[in-house]
Amino acid sequence: MNQLTDQQVQQFKAIFPSALENELMVAHTYLKIGGPARLYLVAATGDEIVHAVEEAKKLSIPWYVIGGGSNLLVSDEGFQGLVIQATGRTMSIDGTSVSAAPGVFTGSLARSAADAGLTGFEWGVGVPGTVGGATYGDAGCFGGEMRDVVSAVEAYDVTSGKRVTYSNEECRFGYRDSRFKHEPHIILKTTLTLRQGDKVSARAKIDEIMGKRKDTQPQGAFSAGCLFKNFDFTDDSVLEKLKREDEVPPEFLAKHRIPAGWLIDKLGLKGTTVGKAQVSPVHGNFLVNLGGARAQDVMALSSMVKMKVRDELGILLEDEVQYLGF
Ligand code: EPU
Repeated sequence: MNQLTDQQVQQFKAIFPSALENELMVAHTYLKIGGPARLYLVAATGDEIVHAVEEAKKLSIPWYVIGGGSNLLVSDEGFQGLVIQATGRTMSIDGTSVSAAPGVFTGSLARSAADAGLTGFEWGVGVPGTVGGATYGDAGCFGGEMRDVVSAVEAYDVTSGKRVTYSNEECRFGYRDSRFKHEPHIILKTTLTLRQGDKVSARAKIDEIMGKRKDTQPQGAFSAGCLFKNFDFTDDSVLEKLKREDEVPPEFLAKHRIPAGWLIDKLGLKGTTVGKAQVSPVHGNFLVNLGGARAQDVMALSSMVKMKVRDELGILLEDEVQYLGF
């Protein structure tokens, strides 16, 4: 990756004096991995993010917006560009409509909605990171996904330079996918439409989800959540090799989706370690940093897992984690 010139850096800093130089991304990712971002800007409002992106474009500085850094692997060399951290945390509730700035923590939105007696987003408590990132990646867990609850997204279309409001359909959500992954946008506000429920049962559901999470996913570990998408298929013939090895639970076949964690577990890869990166012994699709792991450890381990699943079971896993600086 080309180095930014001092001139680019100084010109950007003349407009945004609060921008930091060479900020280590270790401090800003759930995985606790990543070299320096040449420029790092904390932006509390959508206007500030848009302004920063437009100035970066003029100066030919590559840019990247992060929310919580929960689903992100940054290279050991870092990023020769501008990382903007969206920290706007305003939210509002109007009837069954809940709107949030991209920097609102998903868990905090889930709790506020439950406290307001709304139901339908309790699962959000199990999603690490922020609403902007969750919208971008159609995050989900325990039976819910962003695409089930988002009714509108306000965004800035970086290509046209226009502010837009998209309906759910226009967001083109798919499993862990949205139009925002394919066309550069800055997410400014996400609105969810929930249902009237009651506080007590919504809070109980939140506790239940937290409990399930504790039982099935690594706790207190540095991790970026699931490393791979679960494997979706339309045609059973892609499972030929897998079926020769093992019985596939009928519920996976019925959903046309094989959990990546189950495949990795089948191959006995839980606990495998490269350097300080480990396939979690608790859940096969979680990769954890045991402390001091490097991005190259994660890359080596993830490639090894992918190759084994491909060679032994004939299935190609797709990355879910986002990569920066590679
Ligand atoms: N399984 C195993 N061994 C493992 C892991 C899972 O046999 O090591 C089996 C489980 O027993 C279960 C099936 O695989 O029968 C599915 O496992 P789980 O319920 O843990 O869910 P998942 O499909 O692995 C998905 C999401 C998670 C979300 C959970 C809980 C993806 C890639 N992952 O995992 O989301 O939290 O469901 O609803 O869709 C994320 O996307 O980063 C993420 C953590």
